Amino acid sequence: MMFKEQIDALRVSFTEELAAARTKEMLEAVRVAYLGKKGPVNDLMKGLRDMTPEERKEAGQLVNTFKGEAETAINEKGRVLEQEALESAIRSAKKFNPTLPSSEDRGSYHPITLIARDVEEIFTTMGFTVEDYVEVTDDYHCFEALNIPKHHPARDMQDTYYIENGQLLKTHTSAAQNHIMKKYGAPLRAIFPGRCFRNEAIDACHENTFFQMEGMMIDKDISISNLIYFMKTMLSAVFGEELMVRLRPGFFPFTEPGFELDISCTICKGRGCPSCKNTGWLELCPCGMIHPNVLREGGIDPEVYTGFAFGLGMTRLAMMKYGVKDIRDFNSGNLRALSQFENE
Ligand code: DAH
Repeated sequence: MMFKEQIDALRVSFTEELAAARTKEMLEAVRVAYLGKKGPVNDLMKGLRDMTPEERKEAGQLVNTFKGEAETAINEKGRVLEQEALESAIRSAKKFNPTLPSSEDRGSYHPITLIARDVEEIFTTMGFTVEDYVEVTDDYHCFEALNIPKHHPARDMQDTYYIENGQLLKTHTSAAQNHIMKKYGAPLRAIFPGRCFRNEAIDACHENTFFQMEGMMIDKDISISNLIYFMKTMLSAVFGEELMVRLRPGFFPFTEPGFELDISCTICKGRGCPSCKNTGWLELCPCGMIHPNVLREGGIDPEVYTGFAFGLGMTRLAMMKYGVKDIRDFNSGNLRALSQFENE
């Protein structure tokens, strides 16, 4: 048989055997049979030695072309088989049926989590970072660094749980202010949600464990109008309606000046109702311009930078947004009470 005919015959049988290979092992057998050391391609290569230079040139090209084609075809077939194997594995693994109705017992988010997520999302879009902080801290962070020296009467505003080694349970999220100023320096925009603890007698309106969301913005030329803008934008977004806000003077050792921020009553829209004691306003959020001593203690020069801070009562906000009458529901673990809130 002429060399070219030999190659053509080889091509025909190779193509048939390749098509018949259904597994990786069969494919490998075809490769060894044709391209292996003892296979026909190798034999043909060896035969080139006995040819004249002209014959060798032509035959060499033919055999090399076939060899290249065969290698490419084997690799390609390998990929196809691999893909098929994967698909069939996925098919047989698919025991989960997404069309079946789900069980009745579905988990739900805690209402405080839902509100915290809303507030975090709004502030994040306004360039604030969301920071984490410990629940057990010390006198320095909770009081001293906030311009509340020992024996200052303002300490009586918050009845503190003291624990061992001079540590305490943080009474407010403001306890993280110093830590965050030292971490980032100025300018800075941060909010920090957290659980707070105070030794309170518990009733429908008071809890010893509650949530706050602290916020701080420090930069050059920050003023009270920035505070009003950010609070109004955030609260309107949380309540899903345009709210009015107003500031009344408030005292906090770590602010100068300090304020109580009120929002227009969400129930009567400011007309006056029992919920707002007919004033049209609801007290919502203590806030203020950060006291220069607090900035300085955080390593920020109050001659160059100013800032505002607020301590939003998340538990109170959740009570208002969802109309929860008894604050004790939040920590009750009562799933009937807690699972009824919208769970986006
Ligand atoms: N930490 C205060 C509290 O829990 C609330 C507060 C007031 C926080 C004024 C602030 C602020 O950041 O500026 O009673």
